[in-house]
Amino acid sequence: MRVGVLTGGGDCPGLNAVIRAVVRKGVQVFGYEFVGFRAGWRGPLEGDTVALDVQAVRGILPRGGTILGSSRTNPLKVEGGVERIKDNLAGLGVDALIAIGGEDTLGVARELYANGVNVVGVPKTIDNDLNATDYTFGFDTAVNIGMEAVDRLHTTAESHHRALICEVMGRHAGWIALHVGMAAGANVILIPERPFDIDKVIEYVESRFKTRYAPIIVVAEGAHPAEGQLQLQSGERDAFGHVRLGGIGQALAEEIEKRTGKEARAAVLGHIQRGGTPTAFDRVLATRFGLQAIDAVRDGDYGKMVALRGTDIVRVGLDEATKELKTVPLERYAEAEVFFG
Ligand code: F6P
Repeated sequence: MRVGVLTGGGDCPGLNAVIRAVVRKGVQVFGYEFVGFRAGWRGPLEGDTVALDVQAVRGILPRGGTILGSSRTNPLKVEGGVERIKDNLAGLGVDALIAIGGEDTLGVARELYANGVNVVGVPKTIDNDLNATDYTFGFDTAVNIGMEAVDRLHTTAESHHRALICEVMGRHAGWIALHVGMAAGANVILIPERPFDIDKVIEYVESRFKTRYAPIIVVAEGAHPAEGQLQLQSGERDAFGHVRLGGIGQALAEEIEKRTGKEARAAVLGHIQRGGTPTAFDRVLATRFGLQAIDAVRDGDYGKMVALRGTDIVRVGLDEATKELKTVPLERYAEAEVFFG
């Protein structure tokens, strides 16, 4: 049995732990061979491979990033992309493919499976917004980095009695913002699922300024005000069409200064949340996902994604996994709201 492995989409701490578990169990327990594909779907699309054996995965468990590289290449948007991948896999003698990625990567995996490719998916995103799994690895690491940053912002904010806004990742879902804000005791948390009322935010900020403490706001990059309020720069895109980070944090800081007459600063964590070594939780989750993925290959159980349900690692259909994003339920937001102001 020859198994291909790729990592697609934005990287995330724990990817290397999955690769290591897949290869170690695959080689040592099942006697399989592996082919690593470089840079997400670009690898199988262009037949760009890298050697993947036990030696190649030594020492990578604590390392962030991915030894295979990643990209956002989408073969479904390339003329004849699916056929090219099928031909390249056949040419390389690859019997099954393990695709580690987020919604886009797994969406491609679903289509390839529908076209006869033996695929198993492994969910990955720091945003924790993938349906059908309780948690994705990378999320816990991102939350811990955010929590530590906000702990630090508290003390400098108090010294200068100014507002500090911490902008965290989360384009479509506010899981990181919610958990960072709850863990670090933010006075306000703003998430994309719940358009905010800027007057209410200013009220919380004002009331906090009346104490000897200072207001701390945690905002997800995709959070936005109720319609008609506050003109934001956050829709701005770079040359690659990606929305620029930092728009909402900066807009809030300026609005707070204008309306309270007090200083405000925005800190944008950006890709710091995606880099570096994974937490113990993420290393263990990623390892267990990898073990389950290679078991699925052994069982010929394709078209599935491995997932965490409670404390169990299970397999779910790629259809279920990619049908919608898992956003923050408003009851969870209400729990955090108790501590606002
Ligand atoms: O992994 C998802 C994510 O973290 C989003 O929250 C964020 O908008 C995006 O990645 C940015 O990724 P990149 O800069 O790699 O396009």
